[in-house]
Amino acid sequence: MNPTRIIIDTDPGVDDALTFLLALASPEIQLEALTTVCGNIGIDKTTRNALSVLELAHASHIPVARGCADPMLNKLGNSGDAVHGTSGIGKSNLPEPKAQPIEQHAIDYLIERILAEPQQISLYTIGPMTNLALAIRKDPRIVPALKEVVIMGGSLRAGGNITPQAEFNIHADPHAAHVVFHSGIPITLIPLDATYKCLLTSADIERLNKIKSPIARFVGDATAIYMDFYKKYEGFDGCALHDPLTLAVIIAPELFTFEDHYIDVDISTGVSMGNTFADFMKVTKKPANIKVALNVRGRDFVELFLERMETLSRSIAD
Ligand code: RIB
Ligand code: CA
Repeated sequence: MNPTRIIIDTDPGVDDALTFLLALASPEIQLEALTTVCGNIGIDKTTRNALSVLELAHASHIPVARGCADPMLNKLGNSGDAVHGTSGIGKSNLPEPKAQPIEQHAIDYLIERILAEPQQISLYTIGPMTNLALAIRKDPRIVPALKEVVIMGGSLRAGGNITPQAEFNIHADPHAAHVVFHSGIPITLIPLDATYKCLLTSADIERLNKIKSPIARFVGDATAIYMDFYKKYEGFDGCALHDPLTLAVIIAPELFTFEDHYIDVDISTGVSMGNTFADFMKVTKKPANIKVALNVRGRDFVELFLERMETLSRSIAD
C-alpha cells in the first residue's frame, strides 16, 4: 500500500519533535514537509527546532517552511517555557542546523503544494492553526483540494490544559480553529480526551536508552523538563504524547474510538475562550463536521511509539 503523504504544521515543541521522529520511523507515512508556526515558543525557535530535529534524524532533505509569528488576533503567551524549556525542545542540546527554511512563507507553500496535487496531501496540525486558517482565507481552492486535516487539539470532556476550559493549540488561536472547523475540509480531531491516555514514562525512557543512539538520548533529554512539569503539576510519572498520537490515525487507527459530531469552538473573550464543545445530544440539528477520537488504547500506542523509536535508534546508532 502506498504511504500516506503528509505535511505537518507544527510548533516544536517537545512532543512535536517526537512526532517528526515517529513519522520518519513509519513506512506507512511519507513526510513531505514541515511548516512552522508560533505556539509553544516563538517562530524563530520553532523553525530552528524543526530544522535541527530533521538533521538529527538524517532527514534534512525534507523542506521546512517558516510560518506565522503571531496568532490571527490573540497575543501569544510564554506558557510553553515551563513545559518545553526555553529552547522549545527541553534539555536537548542540538547543534545549530546547517539547513535553512525555504524562501516561501508556510501559507504560500501550503497553497502551492495542496493545489499542485489535489486530494493527495493530508495536513497534520499539531500547533495553533494560524497558517492553515490564513491559507484557507488567501486561497479557498485548497478546501476541496486538501485530502484531510488531522488536528491535535481541543478537549471535549477532559478539561483544559492552558485554562480550565481550553486546550493549548486551540486557545492560542481560537479564531484560526473556528475558520478550520467550519471550512468543510474533512477533519479528524485528536483531543486531550485521547492524548492524556498516552503517557510516556521514565521507565520507557530508560528502556529506550539501552540503545546507544543520539535519537534515544534526544528523546530522554527533550522530555526531561516535560516529565518534571507533569510530575510537579499533574502528579503523574510521564508526559503525554499529544502530537505523536495524531499519526496513529495512519499507523494504528484500530486503537481509537471515533465518533462523528458537530463540534465548535468558543471565540468569545471570556473565561471559556478556546473551549471546544460537541453537540452530543444533537440539539443544534447541525450536521457533524468532525470525526473525533473520544478514546484510545493509550498504552498500546505508547508501546508502538517505543518500538518505532527503538528501530529508529538502531538505524542511527553511536
Ligand atoms: O495541548 C497540547 C498541544 O499544545 C501540543 O501540540 C503541544 O505541543 C502544545 O503545542
Ligand atoms: Ca505542538
